[in-house]
Amino acid sequence: MAYRDVYQSWQDNPEAFWLKAAEAIDWDVAPTKALFDDKAPLYEWFRDTKVNTCYNAVDRHVEQGRGDQVAVIYDSPITGTKAKFTYAELQTRVAALAGGLAAKGVGKGDRVIIYMPMVPEALEAMLACARLGAIHSVVFGGFAANELAVRIDDATPKAIIAASCGLEPGRVVDYKPLLDGAIELADHTPDFCVILQREQHPCDLGARDVDWHGFQEGTAPAACVPVEGTHPAYILYTSGTTGAPKGVVRPTAGHLVALNWTMKNIYNVDPGDVFWAASDVGWVVGHSYICYAPLIHGNTTIVFEGKPIGTPDAGTFWRVIEEHDVKSFFTAPTAFRAVKREDPAGEFVKKYDLSCLGQIYLAGERADPDTIEWMQDKLGKPIYDHWWQTETGFTIAGNPVGIEPLPVKLGSPTVAMPGFDVQILSDEGHPLGAGELGAIAVKLPLPPGTLPTLWNAEERFLKSYLTTFPGYYETGDAGMIDEDGYLYIMARTDDVINVAGHRLSTGAMEEVLAAHPDVAECAVIGVTDALKGQLPVGFVCLSKGVETAPEDVEQGCVKLVRDTIGPVAAFKLCCVVDRLPKTRSGKILRGTMVKIADSEAFKLPATIDDPAILDEIKTALQTIGYAK
Ligand code: COA
Ligand code: AMP
Repeated sequence: MAYRDVYQSWQDNPEAFWLKAAEAIDWDVAPTKALFDDKAPLYEWFRDTKVNTCYNAVDRHVEQGRGDQVAVIYDSPITGTKAKFTYAELQTRVAALAGGLAAKGVGKGDRVIIYMPMVPEALEAMLACARLGAIHSVVFGGFAANELAVRIDDATPKAIIAASCGLEPGRVVDYKPLLDGAIELADHTPDFCVILQREQHPCDLGARDVDWHGFQEGTAPAACVPVEGTHPAYILYTSGTTGAPKGVVRPTAGHLVALNWTMKNIYNVDPGDVFWAASDVGWVVGHSYICYAPLIHGNTTIVFEGKPIGTPDAGTFWRVIEEHDVKSFFTAPTAFRAVKREDPAGEFVKKYDLSCLGQIYLAGERADPDTIEWMQDKLGKPIYDHWWQTETGFTIAGNPVGIEPLPVKLGSPTVAMPGFDVQILSDEGHPLGAGELGAIAVKLPLPPGTLPTLWNAEERFLKSYLTTFPGYYETGDAGMIDEDGYLYIMARTDDVINVAGHRLSTGAMEEVLAAHPDVAECAVIGVTDALKGQLPVGFVCLSKGVETAPEDVEQGCVKLVRDTIGPVAAFKLCCVVDRLPKTRSGKILRGTMVKIADSEAFKLPATIDDPAILDEIKTALQTIGYAK
């Protein structure tokens, strides 16, 4: 069947399409109906079912004879560790951890925050929650205590599962003070914390803490608890327009059905194949494609703890692919830009046998044609860009490789997937024609697995996504569709920026800068960077009478953002200026500032993330605001 026929079959009868896809899931109570639209524009999928995610991701494979297949490969160049866990071992470990959690009172519907680095135990923690019907919320390790505190107060978790440390090149990330600091800052206090002691940097345990090891082994294993299809599988916080992150809710049944469908149809892997997403469990890519989808589909997944370069070298990706026989590989374009910068001639690629690798997938940010061409040239493999969001949890537009690989057009993530009726709309909400630029929206209902609401924030959900264009989901991206139906993602319509594939809010950074005692007003913009895609740059005006040297205020601002949001914000450039450019009515012209910074005439260096030329960059940037 061709992609066009599959898409058409979905359009003709979405109900039949999704019920068919649902046959691949093991239900406790099977669906009689897919879509429930009685609360439109709020839609529900598979409401009349009962199912357990952990059973589908782990236990059923053991029962069906895959117990000895490797489920998880841990490859950590940063610690020099490798380990493999079969599905049977994973089942034992997850059931034991779930038993420990249950014995301390965690049950269906309770929230559990997970704050862990890229270790297999992070997946075990997620799956143990799923086993009990508890709702996990994984927080990325690069966020600071304050961000963790905000999530603790919103999710009000019964427990937090954390590690003693994470490891970044040349630096130990001491999680325990961050965790304790966050609990101190938060109004809500969890009943207990489970701490995975890592030998690289163990920590002292307090009265609230229990040691993962004794805990995982100490109680009877827990069974899988069937939950309603609409039960939240997890909450994942993502950046919105303001400092308060949005808690994207993932519904259990739709998540299972949709993710399972993508593994063959988009990623072209069969059960037993090795699939690798080099991301982090703290992001949606990590949720969907390090943990859930590969396991639900019976694949082997890789937990990689390291960086594409420097651990030990720019050949790391190729070594992992060869050594573990990876068939499909997925990461963010930034990672390849980093590799390309280190190894422009592709010398490291030549050292490894990549014959196992079928294709590579890119997402999370714009895939620039230069990088794709370099990859095509050096690797000789198909490179597929695809576009999705935390909110959807899987591909909105991509290349349906397992159905039929479509020709690649550089700069386009290809075509809409079944489930998504993607339209380009004018400001007034009228559908635009081929080649016309507008807001990218998806006709309601969104498919199974996409967000039904935001945690504790239905009004915000309606306002953020469903109000601007009634009848549509507003993606927050702008772009166009060409005459062949290929989609092009051009820009965000809000103040979300993408730094090294990480989604961040400039609004949230402005809120932090505004709290600096010497700052009267400020603006943060995302400036194009050849390595990380975008980098945030802050412009601040000092309050009257401030005598602190501008350089000290700038450094103080950089530290404040790092301490409040975290190192992941990559906020390293801040300039004190006399005034900010504004409209007559006093609105800061952020868009104009971005245009100046990105213009050819302005000539910022291609990579502004270079401390050696920091002063030069700052002098240039000061002219965007009004120089001090
Ligand atoms: N825990 C603690 N700190 C973290 C972290 C984590 N899990 N992840 C990143 N950080 C820190 C980094 O150490 C860095 O700190 P520094 O300012 O002290 O150097 C800072 O956050 C910024 O990180 P990043 O923007 O990732 O830059 P980097 O120089 O460490 O790495 C890349 C750059 C391109 C190699 C890396 O971002 C990468 O591989 N990205 C692509 C893959 C990916 O994860 N995509 C996510 C979605 S698919
Ligand atoms: P996240 O929710 O972190 O996955 O970020 C989603 C946002 O990242 C999207 O709304 C886009 O702005 C951007 N994005 C993701 N994938 C792509 C892509 N393939 N091309 C361009 N932008 C992308």
